[in-house]
Amino acid sequence: MQALGWMLLGYLSGSCLAAPWVCRLAGVADPRGSGSCNPGVSNVLRLYGPRLALATLALDVAKAMPAVAAAKSQGLPIWVQGAVGLAVLLGHSYPLWHGFRGGKAVASAFGVLLVLVPWVALSSSLLWALCAWRLRTAAAASLISAVAAPLITLWLAADYVLVVSAFTLLVGLRHALNIRRLRRGEEPGLSDR
Ligand code: G3P
Repeated sequence: MQALGWMLLGYLSGSCLAAPWVCRLAGVADPRGSGSCNPGVSNVLRLYGPRLALATLALDVAKAMPAVAAAKSQGLPIWVQGAVGLAVLLGHSYPLWHGFRGGKAVASAFGVLLVLVPWVALSSSLLWALCAWRLRTAAAASLISAVAAPLITLWLAADYVLVVSAFTLLVGLRHALNIRRLRRGEEPGLSDR
């Protein structure tokens, strides 16, 4: 019962997309209508620059943490903590409050990992930054870090490897269009609009 409650809270908090609200508050157009149309940090960065992107990142990471932190602090089994984390990512990907059309769950996955396996979160985000810097493409950086995350987990927190693999699978599926564009060489760079 407790587990279902945290999963529900996770899904509902995950469903709160930061990007549309940050952009509305800043008086700029909803990012779901331009660029990649993704309500996420990278699209906000390309469209409106680092200030709004950082605000989006902070809020999407923060919203991902409370439900998972509660499940972890109550000593619920790892698979339950993982299910709560997955509920957060599903909320962000298929949000109740936004017609079930959400984002790619990269920032929210970072928030969930920060609570469950902080060193994996930090290593993966470092890898993301390195790949984004070298490749100049957010989606490629996200996909590489998502694939690397279970391997890093195997090394640093092996008990969580199945949980982190499930997150990787969801993030990978949410990047289906990016993968197609990357293969065609048509994925926009970080500074393209
Ligand atoms: O964090 C999302 C990123 O991996 C891809 O987003 O807007 O470039 O499709 P976008």
